[in-house]
Formats: sequence, C-alpha cells, structure tokens
Amino acid sequence: MAAWSEQLRREGVTVGFVPTMGALHDGHRSLIRAARLRCDALIVSIFVNPAQFSPTEDLSTYPRSITHDRALCREEGVDVCFEPTAQGMYPDGFQTTVTVPALARRWEGEARPHHFAGVATVVTKLFGMVQPHLAWFGQKDYQQAVLVRKLSEDLNLGVAIQVSQTVRERDGLAMSSRNIYLSADERRVAPLLSQALRAGQQMIVGGTRDVAAIERIMRQTIEQAPTIHLEYLAVCDQDNLEPLSVVTDRAVLLGAVRIGSVRLIDNLLVKISREKSPATY
Ligand code: PAJ
Repeated sequence: MAAWSEQLRREGVTVGFVPTMGALHDGHRSLIRAARLRCDALIVSIFVNPAQFSPTEDLSTYPRSITHDRALCREEGVDVCFEPTAQGMYPDGFQTTVTVPALARRWEGEARPHHFAGVATVVTKLFGMVQPHLAWFGQKDYQQAVLVRKLSEDLNLGVAIQVSQTVRERDGLAMSSRNIYLSADERRVAPLLSQALRAGQQMIVGGTRDVAAIERIMRQTIEQAPTIHLEYLAVCDQDNLEPLSVVTDRAVLLGAVRIGSVRLIDNLLVKISREKSPATY
C-alpha cells in the first residue's frame, strides 16, 4: 500500500483517503464522492478495527458485507480498496497506542473508555500506510472527526482532514451501519434523537442562549418514547467539546441514546448569525 502511494506522490498525484469499517451505506458513499471530486487517486480502507471495541461490544457481530462494499467502491470510481487483516495491523508484540486524552474524555469516551485510543491508533497507522494528502471523515461521528483533526495536527501527520455532512434517512435518522440492528418498533422511535437535536437548534435560532433550557426541551423530546434510554444530550464548544452554559456561535449539540441494545449518536452544529443575536448574547 505504502509503496503504491509513495510512487503516486512522487508523480505529483493528489492522494485521497476514506477510512471505513465496511458495511458501506450512503453516508460512506457521500464521503467517497466528495473525495473522488477532489483527488486524483482515491483509497478506501475497510477494516473492522478490534482495538476500538470493548470486550462487551459488538465486534464479532459487527455487520460485514465485503462483496457489496467492493461493488460500491467500484461504482464510485475508487482506485484501491485497502483491506488489511487484524494480524497484519496488530502482529504479535504490537505495543504502541496513540491517545488524545482531553478530546477523548467526555461523551463517547465516557461511555466507551478505550474506544478513541483504538480509533486514534488505527487512524495513525492507516495514515502511515496510505500516506494520503487528504482524508475524509463524517460529521456523524463529530467527536471522532475533531479528535482525528487534532491528532493529525499534533503529530504533524501532514494529512488535511475534511469533514462531510451527515447523511440521513428521510425521517431524519442519521445513517449508520448499526441501524440494521433496530427492530421495527425501535426503528420507529429512533428519529426522536435527531428531532431532539433539531428542537434544540430551533430554540437557538429563536434566540434562546440558556443551555439548561435547551437541554430540557431536548430531553423532553426523547422522553416521548419510554423505550429510549438517554445517554447524553449536551451543548458543547465545537472545538474542545467542553460543555457550555451559554450558547456561543461555535456550539455543537451532541446526543447519544440507547434503544434496546443499539447505541445511536447524532449531532448538529449551531449557526448563529450575529446580527440576529439578542442583546443577551
Ligand atoms: P465507520 O463507522 O465505517 O465510518 C467511516 C466514516 O463514515 C466515518 O468518518 C464516519 O463518520 C462516516 N459516516 C458514517 N455514517 C455517516 C453518515 N450517516 N453521514 C456521513 N458520514 C458518515 O468511523 C469509523 O468507521 C471508524 O472509527 C474508522 C474511522 C474507520 C476507524 O476505524
């Protein structure tokens, strides 16, 4: 992989990269399309990374559809599907871990303590192998995208991180490889997470700046369905992900819920036009 990429770089080719864990859907497709438009050579990796799953999580049952994934990549004009093996990535004696402690501490990191070290380590390794100029990540996993951008800057990896908008189902549910685990009843209530975030966003657009009031409304939206277990709904700073008490123009609404055994996450960025902001802002 590295030899091929090095050769391209020597020839002055722009190398683009979309890392994935497979089970590709239209969310992944949108990253691939954005990358295809910007780059001469495009690599998609498919690797279900054991290091980012805890022993109680769904590594063994994580959806796998390699034939479909390869066909999707071919359809979208991907040059290389890079499919490393777990043994190749983590041979006996492997020891190094990359961590981004402050960004990994809250939200997803709290629910999944070793998750982001697994993500940061595999992304660093993949960047080393693929040596891309640019790499695409989805806003869907907002904390991951912020963390990878920081990682690339801090370690001078030289990869420009691009973030693509979240692709949603018609009813607002963010696309995710894990949505197929939802039963029909669970699927019916799943859009409440995006509706809660939307309600929070609407309040901010309407001039509310008090985070406690916004979080209350978001929580009430989720509570309409007793089968949804709320993990967190928060208004945070877009860059450091620390919780805010007053909304700023660099805020993001983050949410996670559990429905049955399925964890869903979603987020919305806040855009405030300064002219319209009330005097209290
Ligand atoms: P995976 O869940 O397969 O996602 C691969 C990329 O697709 C991530 O950047 C994710 O944010 C993006 N993505 C997923 N659903 C999306 C949606 N609905 N809209 C837009 N983008 C979406 O994220 C991972 O894999 C792994 O952690 C990885 C980065 C590959 C490291 O193992």
